Parts: sequence; C-alpha cells; structure tokens
Amino acid sequence: MQRLKNKHVILGVTGGIAAYKSADLARRLRKAGAQVRVVMTAKAKEFITPLTMQAVSGNPVHDDLFDLKAEAAMGHIELARWADVILVAPATAGFIARLVNGEAGDLLTTLCLATTAPLVLAPAMNQAMWKNTLTQDNVQALHAKKIAVLGPGEGDQACGDVGPGRMLEPQELVDRLSEIFATGRLTGQRVLITAGPTREAIDPVRYISNASSGKMGYALAMAAAEAGADVVLISGPVDLEKPTHMKCIDVVSAEEMHAAVMKEVDACDVFLSVAAVADYRCKTVATQKIAKKEAELTLMLERNPDIVASVAALSKKPFVVGFAAETENLIAHAKAKLKNKKLDMVIANQVGQKEVGFDSDDNAATVIWQTQEKIYPRMSKQKLARELIALIADQIKK
Ligand code: PMT
Repeated sequence: MQRLKNKHVILGVTGGIAAYKSADLARRLRKAGAQVRVVMTAKAKEFITPLTMQAVSGNPVHDDLFDLKAEAAMGHIELARWADVILVAPATAGFIARLVNGEAGDLLTTLCLATTAPLVLAPAMNQAMWKNTLTQDNVQALHAKKIAVLGPGEGDQACGDVGPGRMLEPQELVDRLSEIFATGRLTGQRVLITAGPTREAIDPVRYISNASSGKMGYALAMAAAEAGADVVLISGPVDLEKPTHMKCIDVVSAEEMHAAVMKEVDACDVFLSVAAVADYRCKTVATQKIAKKEAELTLMLERNPDIVASVAALSKKPFVVGFAAETENLIAHAKAKLKNKKLDMVIANQVGQKEVGFDSDDNAATVIWQTQEKIYPRMSKQKLARELIALIADQIKK
C-alpha cells in the first residue's frame, strides 16, 4: 500500500555527516508519493546546501525562524500544522538533547514543539557519543514521550570508528516511516464509505449536482484502509485517482448509490456516509436535450431515498456515521440529523466557506455521539480523516 501517498512530510536535517544522505531520502520520499518540505538547521547547511535540498524536495527550504519572506509564504505555525509527520534525519546528539529539553531556539525545534503530528528521529552520530549515558538517557526520554526513534544502524563510521550510530539507509527510513501510518486500529473490520456528489439527470446532457470533490470521503477510505480495515468505497463522479487496496464502485445518481450501498451493507461493520447525496431528482428525465424556447422552465423534483437513514433502519445495522453539511446552526441541525436519521455518530462540518467543507483541501468538524461532542479544528482532510477513524475505532471497541 502507498501509505505515504499525499502525506505531508517535514524532513528536518541537522548538522552531521549523514546529512549527505538526506538528499536521497527526500527524493525517495517523493517517489513514495509524499509531499516533502525540508527544514535545515544552521549546522546542516555546513554539510549539504539548501539548493540541493530544494531541488530534490521540489519546495523551498525553510531554515530561519525569523525569515519574513518565509513567514509570509508559510509561517512556522502553519508549517507545523501542515505536517502529517516530522522526520528528523539525521538527528544529531545535540539536536536530540535540545528536543528533550524542550528548547525552541531554531525553526526545527520550534516546529517539533508546535506540531501535533508524530515525530520520528533517525539518530546519526559517532558510536561513543551514541553509547554515552547522557545520550542514552535522552533516547529513553524520547521513548517515554512516544517519539519514534528509527535506528541507528551499526557499522563503519565516517570518523573511522566501527559501531552503532550510523543513520539508517534512506530506503529503510522510507519503509519504516510509512509504517507509522499503519495503526491496525480497524483490523478485521469491514468499512463501507460513500463519497463525492451524485448527479441527477435533467436531460441527456444536463444534471443537478453539488460541489463535493470526494476528497473527504476518499481521505476517510484511505485512513480506514491504513488502519487495517477491508474497505468498500462507493463514489459519485469525482476527479480523484482511485485508491488502491480497496474495492471501488462508481455510481452516478442517488438511486444508483442507494442500490450499491444496499448490496454491500450486509457485509459491513461500519458505514460512513460522506457523499453529498442529492435530496431530489427530476420526476421525469427528458429523453432529448431540452431546447431553449420558453423564458422560464419548471422542473418537477421528487425525493431521493435517504441512504444513511435506510442503513440505520436495518435490523442488523452496522455502526452508522453520517455527516451534516450545514451553512447555519451547525450543531443544532447536526443533532437533529443524528436523532432523526437514527445515526450512531454525526460529523458536523460548516459548508459555504472557501477554506473548509466542499472542494477544499482542509476541513474542520464537530463530532457528536451519544451525549458527547468533540471539536476538531481546521486541518488537512487527510489528517482529519485519520483522527476521525481513530475516534470511530475507539467507539466501536466500546
Ligand atoms: O467531497 P468534499 O469536497 O471533500 O466535501 C466533503 C463534504 C462537505 C461533502 C462532506 O464532509 C460532507 O459534509 N458530506 C455530507 C454532505 C451532505 O449531503 O450532508 P447533508 O447534511 O445534506 O446530509 C446528511 C447525511 O445524510 C450525510 O451523511 C449524507 O451522506 C446523508 N444523505 C443525505 C441525503 C440522502 N438522500 N441520502 C443520504 O444518505
């Protein structure tokens, strides 16, 4: 599975001889589908140039906490939020010590403190420095804080010593990094997800639809698959690449989506209704293109089946999660949908704004279930999807 596909990786480079391998690492991360932004410490630039790292990462290098130009483009807090993971490779003994101390003296340490993304360190240093009890104490502190430490490897060192302290090879780091996203939280669960819009035909060339891009539904499908679930994704017409490692079914109209869901639902444990299903369809669809004749045209619409409510009404029903897309009274409307559609959980998101909701890369949500509510601030749809899948997995276990 391409777990790193579209993942936002901050590659932190600190000042050690292994920094020359960071260029190859950035290249391999991109090849694995990740978007890479490099952050270099001042000492890292003694070993490898920002120009090289910019060329291999495809993005400008970030190296200064107080760079007005960089802050105007993507401020350090925004960068911390952008990250799905921060990988520091090589991580020197000095960097590890600063991190353990909670220092924020430069851009990289500041990002490590400011992010909620997982931190992964690939130590690289002389074998005696690695074995030193001060370093080992710091590494224990990292373990205690659930900061992943990959390596180091053993072998010949640049200084002529032999022993532990070599940075792991770039491909091994890429492989091990991708495992961070494989949580196994939904192993053994079958998850059915609808995504994207539906199209309701008016005539052979025109239709009624909405602006759903499918990004939120596809992100949830990928997060569920990463969490170990068997996923079936039923999608309306979208411009997204089909995710791998899951069954994908394409539909166009709400009626087709309803039929596809009802065919698959028996076998599933969780149903996520992310699609923006048209509530109405044309009562009659013109067989020929409607010609422009009259000043006004009236379309008679009739109700489409409510897919999520149909699933929630089944006697043997899965755990049913609906979305509520609202332009006003978000929470009140979402609570009404939770109750009226008999959902187990509703994910309320504000729509009608540019930055979140329909056709944006980010989203924000309030999740409501039983008597509880949890707020997720604005973040990438991929990151939000992973958080939502973790929450759903916890609820299923209960
Ligand atoms: O696709 P993106 O561009 O990434 O945008 C994501 C999104 C905004 C579309 C998504 O996050 C979202 O909110 N999806 C639900 C959109 C919607 O139709 O909301 P609603 O409040 O109208 O419907 C409530 C729930 O009923 C939804 O779970 C919906 O899937 C379901 N429904 C609605 C009508 C219908 N006939 N059948 C349904 O199952």
